Amino acid sequence: MKTEIDHSVVRCADSTFRLRFTHGLRRGLGSAARCARSLGSMKRLYALLLLVVLLPCTLFAQEKDRNWYKHAVFYEIYPRSFADSNNDGLGDLNGITAHLDYLKRLGVDAIWITPCFPSPQVDFGYDVSDYESIDPAYGTLADFDRLVAEARKRNIRVVLDFVLNHTSDRHAWFQESRSSRTSAKRDWYIWRDGAAPGQPPNNWGSVFGGSAWQLDSSTGQYYLHQFYPEQPDLNWRYPEVEDAMMEVARFWFKRGVAGFRLDAVDRIYEDPDLRDNPVKVDPDGSETLVETYTTNLPELHNVLRHLRTVADEYGAVLVGETWTSSVEELQRYYNSLQMPMNFVFTMVNRPSAPEFRKQIHDAERGLGWPVYLFSNHDITRHYDRYGDRAYNDQIAKALAALYLTLRGTPILYYGEEIGMTNNDPARVQDVKDPIGRRFWPHNKGRDGERTPMQWTAGANGGFSQTAPWLPVPDSARTHNVAAEEKDERSILRFYRRLLELRHTNEQLREGNYVALNENDANVLAYLRTYKGKAVLVAINMSAVPRKIALDLRQHSFGAKAKTLLATEAQPDSVRLSEISLAPFGVYIGEVK
Ligand code: GLC
Repeated sequence: MKTEIDHSVVRCADSTFRLRFTHGLRRGLGSAARCARSLGSMKRLYALLLLVVLLPCTLFAQEKDRNWYKHAVFYEIYPRSFADSNNDGLGDLNGITAHLDYLKRLGVDAIWITPCFPSPQVDFGYDVSDYESIDPAYGTLADFDRLVAEARKRNIRVVLDFVLNHTSDRHAWFQESRSSRTSAKRDWYIWRDGAAPGQPPNNWGSVFGGSAWQLDSSTGQYYLHQFYPEQPDLNWRYPEVEDAMMEVARFWFKRGVAGFRLDAVDRIYEDPDLRDNPVKVDPDGSETLVETYTTNLPELHNVLRHLRTVADEYGAVLVGETWTSSVEELQRYYNSLQMPMNFVFTMVNRPSAPEFRKQIHDAERGLGWPVYLFSNHDITRHYDRYGDRAYNDQIAKALAALYLTLRGTPILYYGEEIGMTNNDPARVQDVKDPIGRRFWPHNKGRDGERTPMQWTAGANGGFSQTAPWLPVPDSARTHNVAAEEKDERSILRFYRRLLELRHTNEQLREGNYVALNENDANVLAYLRTYKGKAVLVAINMSAVPRKIALDLRQHSFGAKAKTLLATEAQPDSVRLSEISLAPFGVYIGEVK
């Protein structure tokens, strides 16, 4: 049953393409025929021959272009923390533009910039008060246009963050909506009466703690906010909201944006009957709400299909913040998004060959193109999550080797390529993220993973000449771009070599994933096979040296590998019956 559903998903995505493809084909043939009619018979023959040669090339190029994201490396930029061009302690768009050459050298093809729109910054940009402008702290629309143009010169695409679920409470739409019960925009948000005096309409909880309902004393009704109270949820059941948001998408597509990352997309619909979410009692007696009626409702896929058609007008990519509980649930998003994020790796917190093997297997089981990431602006940096303090840098390289050689698109988080650590606040009074203040000290918030990019070993990590909005950790003295560029064994240089290989090696670009030595508890090994050749990847996920022996005869490959990249010195040609790996060492070689 499940497989049937999955297949229908793929058929649907394919049929959209077929439609556009046939359209293009018809248009091409039509104009060729018109042209041929106006020529003599000899010339007509030439024109026809030309058509036969050129048409497949054009279609091939179109198809290649449509799939650009599959061979791309995405890089998430938290604009507040990437580079400060005007020395006010906050990063900005011009700072990003100034570092495009760095990103190009690293091997980045697309940058996803987290929200840079006008915002009161309660949730650091995820509370948008105007969708069609740039927050003055980050620059101007002209700066944005320049960034897009400069990025394009370097073949880097710009993807923006689209906050669909909610606006800021300062957005003109909400101001109007809250002004009276009869306001023309009242239904743009979700307003309800309390269940009883002083009681919210139901038991729904906010992701950031407490009830998801806020009483607005002026009209005596509650509004829904799945995040902070300053982030009222939009009512996507109201058609005007959908229309307005599609216009927002067009506004940015017209400015050259290559796509969107869709924020909290799993939460845009809630149960219209406001049924209470079920309560789960854990073995220790604590209670949690199961978000049955507030996440992943089927209706959201209608909106995404609409957004897909708008994005298709501009050939844009849609990336999703798609938290799901199963591969099947994730599959549904492929109906309309090219890149629903698979968060599995953000949930494994120790280097473990069996655990990763299982997760890759699950992702490969799905029919869509996998999208992997280890860290982002909401999650403790993986340098810390996996680090064992003895081999932190080696582990960082091992994890990079893993997700940059898998079939799928990786999304890097700024600074992971230099081994940036989390820098959690030490005192509650220093915390900027409201979650950290609310749940201190149990949860210190997300400041730690959002600290300034470490460009040099100098003051403030070379990010700014002024004290930045968040402090730079001591690790900036050793882990910074300038130092790592000079050190051949640095994490940065390893990322660069990996990305270069990923871009140039056909097997890594296109190949199938074939798991090897599946019972090995310590070494994760696999092949990427394509056109009769394969790249072998072997990663030691343990803190002791390991040797593995591989026999690839059943896959019709020989007994040796030609070394392509390794973390330790390896001979040019390695016998597969004896591959030696240092603690957390990586070996990548070509087999024939
Ligand atoms: C997403 C963002 C997160 C933000 C939340 C509310 O999960 O990644 O940073 O706080 O949405 O917009």
